[in-house]
Amino acid sequence: MDSILIRGGKPLSGKLPISGAKNSALTLMPCALLTDEPLTLRNLPRLADVDGFGHLLNQLGTSTMVEGARPEDFGRVMTMRAARLTSTEAPYDIVRKMRASILVLGPLLARAGEATVSLPGGCAIGNRPIDLHLKALEAMGAEIELAAGYVKATAPGGRLPGGSYVFPVVSVGATENALMAAVLAKGTTRLENAAREPEIVDLCNCLVAMGARIEGIGSETLEIEGVDRLHGATYQVMADRIEAGSYACAVAITGGSLELVGANAADMGATLAALRDAGVAIEEKRNSIVVTAPDRLGPLTLSTAPFPGFATDMQAQFMAMLTLADGASLLTETIFENRYMHVPELARMGADIEVRGRSAVVRGVRQLNGAPVMATDLRASMSLIIAGLAAQGETRVSRIYHLDRGYERLEEKLQAVGADIERISVG
Ligand code: EPZ
Repeated sequence: MDSILIRGGKPLSGKLPISGAKNSALTLMPCALLTDEPLTLRNLPRLADVDGFGHLLNQLGTSTMVEGARPEDFGRVMTMRAARLTSTEAPYDIVRKMRASILVLGPLLARAGEATVSLPGGCAIGNRPIDLHLKALEAMGAEIELAAGYVKATAPGGRLPGGSYVFPVVSVGATENALMAAVLAKGTTRLENAAREPEIVDLCNCLVAMGARIEGIGSETLEIEGVDRLHGATYQVMADRIEAGSYACAVAITGGSLELVGANAADMGATLAALRDAGVAIEEKRNSIVVTAPDRLGPLTLSTAPFPGFATDMQAQFMAMLTLADGASLLTETIFENRYMHVPELARMGADIEVRGRSAVVRGVRQLNGAPVMATDLRASMSLIIAGLAAQGETRVSRIYHLDRGYERLEEKLQAVGADIERISVG
């Protein structure tokens, strides 16, 4: 298993390219199942999860072709074509490794009138049920059966009638599955208290490019008028707002100034506001954001919330940044029940963090010290990288397969802006 070695204490400066968004790519790729025509996605990030989803689509009968990406390029162009489905089942051995596989449920149900998908099971940050996905599909007329760890969804007569559903809890994935099921339904579907994340807007825009009829894009109420078929399209994946926010936290704690090329400030309102509150200078330019560190960061009080609130996917990275702030910060995680796995690892580096239920008090210290630490989940691993970049001495982050799921060529991007960082391949 690879690990990453960092010799910290070096300020970052220069231009850093932001890749396509993982959490958009993973909901845009299953859209290929909704038509027998080719769907081409541009700016697709080179990530383990994207490769994994391509493999799942192949299993379902979708051809995937990656167009000529030069080794030095970031991102890829992938053309997918589900001319004819050869399976409507997402097996356990794939779903257990990548829970986003559940996002084939809605499109398979829409395209084929049936879908059998393994229950994803929990993960490090929480048990992450899919009850809201299933309730939304039932409200649209699907028959749902749970057996032997699998969900079997069926559209009576082969096509969903459509319906209305009010989400009791905002769920990104459930909104995505419901959207992809609704676009080919017989009638109209109304989703209330739907997720409003930029990745949902990206999904809606891609579906509209394929011929879908969706009103209320970007709002918490979506009206989808089902159509008989969708056609192919070429669509550009949005920039990754979480990757951009992660590197902003990195430069904020190491000192220096980074231009995050391709980042879209409109998707990052709460993140940029929090950075400014901590004293970080943010300059929004046409196609980039310039982030410049203060001499010393100020403490923050932050609580995660669905978009447009402060993103749960930014919590671990902000916690790492705030370990060196001038004062005590209070972070509250309201979305997932176990998203503080990075705390004991940060403490090994000298951070002073106390977890009290869903909240964590982060008391700023003068210095972090390099240490061997272990990644536990995607965003926790990035928080350890951020801390290692600022720590005095050497930090070795193990189990970085977590990192490879969400950060394209991280060490190359950081080396190019002055970090002393390298990947150690072991075995
Ligand atoms: C998506 O996960 C993202 N993943 C997550 O990013 C992100 O943290 C999350 O949205 C919240 O923004 C992808 O897009 C691939 P949810 P998702 O359904 O859809 C509960 C990362 O680091 N819930 O919005 O699984 C759930 O337990 C990953 O990139 C139910 O109770 O998140 C959680 O408490 C991590 N029943 C809350 O809702 C359901 O049926 C929000 O989950 C579904 C969700």
